[in-house]
Amino acid sequence: MMLLSVEGLTIEAGGRRPILRDVSLAVGRGEIVGLVGESGSGKSTIARSVLRLLPSRARVSGRVLVEGDDVLAMSPEALRRLRASRVSMIYQDPRSSLNPVRRIGDFLTERLVHTLGRPKAEARATAVELLAAVGMRDPESRLRQYPHELSGGMLQRVVIAAALAAGPSLLLADEATSALDVTTQAETLALLRRVQAERELGMLFITHDLHLAAAFCDRVHVLYAGTVVESRPAKELFDSPRHPYTAGLLACTPELGAPRTIRPVPGRPPSLDDAFTGCPFAPRCPHTTERCTTRHPEPVAVAGGSAACHLLEV
Ligand SMILES: Nc1ncnc2c1ncn2[C@@H]1O[C@H](COP(=O)(O)OP(=O)(O)O)[C@@H](O)[C@H]1O
Ligand SMILES: [Mg+2]
Repeated sequence: MMLLSVEGLTIEAGGRRPILRDVSLAVGRGEIVGLVGESGSGKSTIARSVLRLLPSRARVSGRVLVEGDDVLAMSPEALRRLRASRVSMIYQDPRSSLNPVRRIGDFLTERLVHTLGRPKAEARATAVELLAAVGMRDPESRLRQYPHELSGGMLQRVVIAAALAAGPSLLLADEATSALDVTTQAETLALLRRVQAERELGMLFITHDLHLAAAFCDRVHVLYAGTVVESRPAKELFDSPRHPYTAGLLACTPELGAPRTIRPVPGRPPSLDDAFTGCPFAPRCPHTTERCTTRHPEPVAVAGGSAACHLLEV
């Protein structure tokens, strides 16, 4: 059974087009799956739907299964347990997760005491272990510090420690390293990779950086205007992108150590006011033909996965 399975998820919230349209993806135990797309493509909406944090008045169809349990149909008690211990989310800005006037120790122990019902002394010992596990030296004294006394990278370690506290099987990392400087980003990625491997966690790794996803993930889904346009093993995707949007993204992100001219994908990312009769990427695609603007492309099988582009149809 897959750890996470999203099946045909469509979410509409009053715009001219759905926020997500028929999104399917899966994450296995011990697997890192990338979700890549420009701002507004629906990445966070997918991550949030795994915790059933849906837009208000959203119309939702499809299924979200965690270890076979249907999140969208769960009882309130099952949902509480899912959020408290089975799935953990890590956000871009660690400061948004931490209360600035509470100590690091309170942040970590409060979760353990209130959400998981652990005794105070045990929670404190666990907090120390967790901070050591995420590579923080002198964890005892860290517990007494306030968020403003720690760097962004150290705070993200605290947030990762908190995410691990309840022993989840799935991590949702939503741009978890995007706000960090390059060195800290590399350290945080190495940490995420290490804890993921040690604990055999499944991870949905969300980023706008396709190069990063290709290097970090086992498989990658590329999202455009709320639809998955390409799903491939990371290496195949990177070596031979089949969707023109994926190819455009790879061409526009500068590689580490090899600075070159950045060629952004021409045009702007679509908003929810842009409705499409055909392929959502058609207005920006260098290969658009007439059928691209009239018919929505269905995914077709390509090496290792699928891509939704009329050019790939035989
Ligand atoms: N609660 C909401 N209500 C209405 N629209 C929303 C809500 N949350 C996100 N959206 C819209 O859905 C689209 C996708 O947003 P999001 O999932 O945050 O994209 P990403 O994380 O890829 O930047 C955006 O156009 C955003 O404005
Ligand atoms: Mg987002």
